[in-house]
Amino acid sequence: MKHYVIVAILIILGTILVHNGLGSLGLLPRQASLQAVSIDSLFNIHLWFISFLFSLIVGFLAYSLVVFRRRKGETGDGVYITGNNTLEILWTIIPLATVIFIAYLGGQSLADILRIDPSAMVVKVIAGQWFWKFQYPDYGFSTDKLYLPANKQIDLQMTSLDVIHSFWVPEFRVKQDLVPGRTTDLRITPIMVGEYKVRCAELCGDKHAYMEAAVYVISQDDFDKWAAQQKASAPADPVLRGEQLAQQNGCANCHSTDGSKGRGPTWRRLADSKVTLSDGSTVTADQTYLTNSISNPKSQIVSGFSANIMPNFANVLDQTEVAALVAYIQSLK
Ligand code: CUA
Repeated sequence: MKHYVIVAILIILGTILVHNGLGSLGLLPRQASLQAVSIDSLFNIHLWFISFLFSLIVGFLAYSLVVFRRRKGETGDGVYITGNNTLEILWTIIPLATVIFIAYLGGQSLADILRIDPSAMVVKVIAGQWFWKFQYPDYGFSTDKLYLPANKQIDLQMTSLDVIHSFWVPEFRVKQDLVPGRTTDLRITPIMVGEYKVRCAELCGDKHAYMEAAVYVISQDDFDKWAAQQKASAPADPVLRGEQLAQQNGCANCHSTDGSKGRGPTWRRLADSKVTLSDGSTVTADQTYLTNSISNPKSQIVSGFSANIMPNFANVLDQTEVAALVAYIQSLK
């Protein structure tokens, strides 16, 4: 009995020490969303279990090694044990109950994360190789940086233009894939004002590692001011508007404006030039051609370029925006 009491004390001490040691390593980034609070408490419970199991095994092992070691003059074998039903029942039932309990906590945490707030603000997220674009349907503008008001649930409705990408801000903890042809949802309630970064967490090609965008969590007041400013700052001049859109939609990743060759044709001196298509025919890059190349790109592929790169922007840009982009391309003569 004395041995069990000593080992029990060792295990309790070990559990506390290991848990505090692991906790002091700073394993998790800042806790910047309501969803992170729920996930972190689950993580913390797991840390307790891990610490306890480690101490349980190492505690018994170390104690036995020291106290029950073979002493001078001892030559006989140890006691031969054939089995222990009580022990076997216990080490089946306790882990089973523990796993079910953890599953229950996990379910609770999942329900917390998926909880829908009817007053959530919708932000549409569009990903492509290799850019992020954020549309604010309530406000009627889009940006390449994500601004979010603090303490309000955000409903991110996400889709991809080409391959699978994944939206991940470590400080928010939650992560969700963006799948072409489908809309996926992610709910985030930012609770900490600050600057973060969204990274793509799904290998998506050459520049996957650089597929990042800034995320700013600001107070509701600041957000309202920013939104008003954003609305006012959309240039009325279609060429300037087009330049802004080209920047926001990642066009420059493939189309240069200085004549150099990229994954797509350069925009410099493109307008009104003769373009040879992959089927050998020649067209003039007039307004109709440029509009078509943005809204239905697969129908006219320029000779020497891959047919599967250019995303279809028909559902991303409205007609005025496409016209502004065309005006910008036409200005690059
Ligand atoms: Cu997009 Cu990796």
